[in-house]
Amino acid sequence: MPCPALPEGFDATDPDLLHDRVPFPEFAQLRQTAPVWWCPQRRGITGFDDEGYWAVTRHADVKYVSTHPELFSSTTNTAIIRFNEHIQREQIDAQRLIMLNMDPPEHTRVRQIVQRGFTPRAIRGLEAALRDRAGKIVAKALTASRDGSFDFVTEVACELPLQAIAELIGVPQEDRLRIFDWSNKMIAYDDPEYAITEEVGSNAAMELIGYAMNLSAARKECPAKDIVTQLVAAEGQGNLGSDEFGFFVLLLAVAGNETTRNAISHGMHAFLTHPEEWERYKATRPATTAEEIVRWATPVVSFQRTATQDTELGGQKIKAGDRVGLFYSSANHDPEVFTDPDRFDITRDPNPHLGFGGGGPHFCLGKSLAIMEIDLIFNALADSLPDLRLAAPGPRRLRAAWLNGIKELRVTHP
Ligand code: HEM
Repeated sequence: MPCPALPEGFDATDPDLLHDRVPFPEFAQLRQTAPVWWCPQRRGITGFDDEGYWAVTRHADVKYVSTHPELFSSTTNTAIIRFNEHIQREQIDAQRLIMLNMDPPEHTRVRQIVQRGFTPRAIRGLEAALRDRAGKIVAKALTASRDGSFDFVTEVACELPLQAIAELIGVPQEDRLRIFDWSNKMIAYDDPEYAITEEVGSNAAMELIGYAMNLSAARKECPAKDIVTQLVAAEGQGNLGSDEFGFFVLLLAVAGNETTRNAISHGMHAFLTHPEEWERYKATRPATTAEEIVRWATPVVSFQRTATQDTELGGQKIKAGDRVGLFYSSANHDPEVFTDPDRFDITRDPNPHLGFGGGGPHFCLGKSLAIMEIDLIFNALADSLPDLRLAAPGPRRLRAAWLNGIKELRVTHP
């Protein structure tokens, strides 16, 4: 049934919606008038196909779907990486090896293993090194800046998430630019400026997987005291196979890198356009800041599920096989849950946002790491670059279906 207020042909997954208009007025319309709405076609931008899907826009419904994997499966159409058909046929069933695309009990097995690398102790163990790196990144941006201006995305936001993943899995720092390059190619194919074909993106993914599989083979032969060893070669605790490990690193390179980079870029943009909040941050450094940045920016706009059986959601009859899009961006501005939802408020507490997912089995594995990285970078900026200003022409956005990304954010400093 058409939603009366929406423009003809509206598709909530259209990346052009993101350009400079977050939070979208269309989502407010949907939440009010058709919170579970059948979008009859997709414009093909996400690359899955052109079939319709249910757009789920209210906080409560997004949570419900996320926490009922028996009704809403992740095994079809959830993937955020595309692989070309050649790779699918000739090598392995690539999508099935990414944990985001698994359901329990297979997902539970893999999650239990990879969680070993993400214990609070493991994440705390990275803090001192990452604090040091955050300080150096900000200092380097200052010296690299010409005419008192620089691109915040390349000089600052890109750096820490990559270094954190390299640190976490023990990738030698000299290889991190290769991972950066592969990861960019995998994600940017919707953006015409990058002119990256699906084949280039897909090949980049396979190169990264090959790299990780070699790393895993090396640790199996010669165990070390690192997370790779824990995941692939620890005795008697259940391990990941080499290909499973390869796909896990692939997931980290996208799920842990691009997301955090964009949270940092959006956080900076939010501070530059809300100078009173930046003053407040510099004075008091509230511990609630990073969560509000993730709510405000919602780097992951949406993920999908597929109904396993006929069911009901928000008063709508969902048929087995129907696809369901979970719009975290919309849920994070739901006035039923958030007071003054369109206000950027770094002391917001409680802040039950769904930027890291709706709380089900796939809830973001790297949340604590991401929050730590965001805290560290803004602390370093407040210490060393406290007077940044937005330079013209404002942020240039990435054109990607599920990611709310910023490609360039020029800033000036006195
Ligand atoms: C899953 C967001 C940072 C690793 C997810 C999901 C979201 C998300 C929305 C899916 C949740 C669901 O389907 O219920 C974010 C955001 C980040 C971030 C917004 C940064 C601000 C990270 C980092 C890492 C990471 C730093 C690791 C280094 C993962 C993994 C999954 C995941 C492995 C899949 C978990 C599973 O399938 O069980 N993330 N993430 N993420 N994230 Fe993050």
